[in-house]
Amino acid sequence: MKGIILAGGSGTRLSPSTDSINKHLLAVFDKPMIYYPLSILMLAGIKEVMIISTPEDKPRFEKLLGDGSSLGITLTYRVQTEPNGIPEAFIIGEDFIGNDDVTLILGDNIFYGQGFTNLLRKAINHHEHATIFGYRVKDPRRFGVVEFDSNQKVVSLEEKPDDPKSDFAVTGLYIYDHKVVDIAKRLNFSQRGELEITDVNKEYLKRNKMHVQLLGRGFAWLDAGTHDALFEAAEFVKNIQQRQGFKLACLEEIAFYLGYITKEELREKGEAMKKTDYGQYLLEIAQRKHTQQYWDSIDQNPILGLVQND
Ligand code: DAU
Repeated sequence: MKGIILAGGSGTRLSPSTDSINKHLLAVFDKPMIYYPLSILMLAGIKEVMIISTPEDKPRFEKLLGDGSSLGITLTYRVQTEPNGIPEAFIIGEDFIGNDDVTLILGDNIFYGQGFTNLLRKAINHHEHATIFGYRVKDPRRFGVVEFDSNQKVVSLEEKPDDPKSDFAVTGLYIYDHKVVDIAKRLNFSQRGELEITDVNKEYLKRNKMHVQLLGRGFAWLDAGTHDALFEAAEFVKNIQQRQGFKLACLEEIAFYLGYITKEELREKGEAMKKTDYGQYLLEIAQRKHTQQYWDSIDQNPILGLVQND
């Protein structure tokens, strides 16, 4: 399974904050936005990730995350010259995807909830052709909307409908087989001048190969695409972190618990950032005894095969 994070776009809805910098590099409370989707791919067990961004921003992402080796993963970078739409990610990533399956996550999507790691790993293991994740929202008109029957069989999919057929938004997390590349190549531009991810999903639905996995009310799904949404996301992260003392989307912590980096490497990272709360957090983890217990309480269902770092 390959992973792609789409972190391009024009960011016009966040202007002037994004006039000189990519939206996905802005902080959501105490870390850059891109950490959140990357953490999801890492938790899903995906080790090869491509980050797609604009020509101006690609070097900034490279500076931030490097080749991924310090997190025990492989990161590659590609450019999307114009915001031609989400499915262009599969055309840009054609060689990278090859004959593998691919999980795409939008760079401004934040997911949080107990058991999410397990749910995602199960969805990946059981997935056959296309899997999307549905989440109930108050205003579905802002999103792709999925209608399904009592057996959770998808009935229809619409992009930002005026009159939504359900309250369930399609989140920015998608799992596909490699056929998605050909499907993306055959799409036409929509009325708003973009290739639409909903058209990709409709094609899988037409082939009777679309599965929807619902995320229940215990989950939080946020997109940080407007100033209000960004502020709310930051508040959410701050509140959870301060209450529990665990950080969301701390990449080094995840890498450590997954056995990708050693306690010593974690300590070195913490030392390098020790003037910050983030660095202190890494040092604190490196000093912990009984690390398995901490991991279990981060995501109730421990991952099979998780390496013990004690
Ligand atoms: O967040 C989930 C929603 O994302 C889905 O429910 C919709 O079906 C889907 O179309 C999309 O809607 P948005 O209107 O939120 O998409 P937006 O144009 O804001 O782009 C989402 C992210 O993808 C954002 O982080 C920027 C990035 N992007 C977008 C486009 C169109 C790119 O990197 N390149 C692009 O060409």
